[in-house]
Amino acid sequence: PPDISLASVKAHLTQLQSIATANGGNRAHGRPGYLASVNYIKGILDAAGFSTVVQSFTTSGATGYNLIADWPGGDPNQVLMTGAHLDSVTAGPGINDNGSGSASILAVAQAVAATGFAPGKHLRFAWWGAEELGLRGSQFYVNNLPAAERTKIKGYLNFDMVGSPNPGYFVYDGDNSAGTGAGPGPAGSTQIEQVIRAKFTALGVTMDDTDFDGRSDYGPFIAVGIPAGGTFTGAEGIKSSSQASRWGGTAGQAFDVCYHRSCDTSSNINDTALDRNADAIAHAVWTLSEVPPT
Ligand code: PHE
Ligand code: CA
Ligand code: ZN
Ligand code: ZN
Ligand code: ZN
Repeated sequence: PPDISLASVKAHLTQLQSIATANGGNRAHGRPGYLASVNYIKGILDAAGFSTVVQSFTTSGATGYNLIADWPGGDPNQVLMTGAHLDSVTAGPGINDNGSGSASILAVAQAVAATGFAPGKHLRFAWWGAEELGLRGSQFYVNNLPAAERTKIKGYLNFDMVGSPNPGYFVYDGDNSAGTGAGPGPAGSTQIEQVIRAKFTALGVTMDDTDFDGRSDYGPFIAVGIPAGGTFTGAEGIKSSSQASRWGGTAGQAFDVCYHRSCDTSSNINDTALDRNADAIAHAVWTLSEVPPT
């Protein structure tokens, strides 16, 4: 897999910040900054050779949009999806939540195009609307997938907050090794967790499990039995002293003090965490899109 340049991810964050600044300070559902964000990403993907579709839906009295981008080729009956929510809360520009995931998967999609990647599986990328109102965009997408299309999706990778300023290194606990009430994910979620863990191990970073409880857009996918996984660098949770000794940063402080606040700007990003996560996304997309020989 290619190394994703931090500069390429940060350049997208600069653009998302500018979009928010030009549109009343946010990129929220139903606000002009959201559609401007969709159009920014769509323009890049169209130029890179993706087939894009904007899927509209209505929630909370406003039109929302999902952006779906397919990379031509691969086995049409085996689809690997990668997604991130593109909407912010109304309080601020949403650069860590979730410009970070949106920009990272965009940089990986650009790397797919730049390298002429020809994976065994078909690749699909998604930028979801209205996550902040209750996973509305991803739920709409899954609800409207014909059963035959649903069964083709062999895995879904989700990235929501991957550049937290006081970062943690969390992987969705697909195997429920932490033994929480959420239980294990659909079969295949364990493999996704292992592939993500392998990349961080190679980087010398030990990950902690985080609840696989449906608190982001993978929820609608696992609810219908699609294996899923992803990473997270933390929101309002507090970094423990043992976490700080492994990961650096400040114990006793939130992973993201600006979570859902106006200060979630382009300054609210830890570059090392963002770079590691972008590289891990590329690793997961490349590894999980292989089709094993039969
Ligand atoms: N979905 C939450 C939000 O956007 C953030 C989150 C992601 C929380 C992953 C837990 C796990 O605000
Ligand atoms: Ca990198
Ligand atoms: Zn949020
Ligand atoms: Zn989020
Ligand atoms: Zn686990």
